[in-house]
Amino acid sequence: MAGDLSLIDTAKYVAARRAADMVQNGMRVGLGTGSTAAWMVRRLGERVREEGLAIKGVPTSTRTAQLARELGIEVVSLDQAGWLDITIDGADEFDRELNLIKGGGGAHLQEKIVATASDQMVVIADAGKEVETLGAFPLPVEVIPFGWQTTRTLIEEVLDTMDVLGTRSALRMNGEAPFVTDEGNHVLDLHLQRIGNPRQMALVLNQVPGVVENGLFIDICDKVVIGYGDGRVELR
Ligand code: 5RP
Repeated sequence: MAGDLSLIDTAKYVAARRAADMVQNGMRVGLGTGSTAAWMVRRLGERVREEGLAIKGVPTSTRTAQLARELGIEVVSLDQAGWLDITIDGADEFDRELNLIKGGGGAHLQEKIVATASDQMVVIADAGKEVETLGAFPLPVEVIPFGWQTTRTLIEEVLDTMDVLGTRSALRMNGEAPFVTDEGNHVLDLHLQRIGNPRQMALVLNQVPGVVENGLFIDICDKVVIGYGDGRVELR
């Protein structure tokens, strides 16, 4: 399969398969969202069919839930599972301390809840996602639709006081209409270029009325499985 893929897709594919092979029989598994996570879900589906692997999967989006069901993975809600042994998910950026930006697919709210309710979060990523400082990837912030423009103004006021290089924000669109998350909210993408203090940023953003959750994952990720275009995999 990897032979037919681009270098980036090969990197995602090998990282995803390595992480999926960490899953053991009987585990409750958080299933991430995105193209890398989809490779991981496919590998788990393969293991369910070929090895009889018995797991309960908790999807982080309707997309992932649908894929997991199609592949024969037992899907349960987070409340049914209670607590998870492992969550495997992609990321948009990760730094040396394994802090992340997530939410490129708009699923970071459920992803953060699920990852936080897990013994360990394993991130799967192609090597190009590693950064010295987070922020080149626009930071997704989920906001409720009511008064979202006021929320945006408040966020921009807060950004003026933070250690960032940019303060522009954009409402994420889906064609002509605002993008709507699985929870019925909108997403503001913050073009910050460089986030000097991600921990502070994560805390401050969630204080703004109307903000539901931001895409910074601080001290949540335990391990990163990094894939390379030549098929190598590195664990950190
Ligand atoms: C979705 C996410 C994804 O994990 C992130 O956007 C990475 O996606 P991909 O694996 O397609 O590069 O956070 O909300």
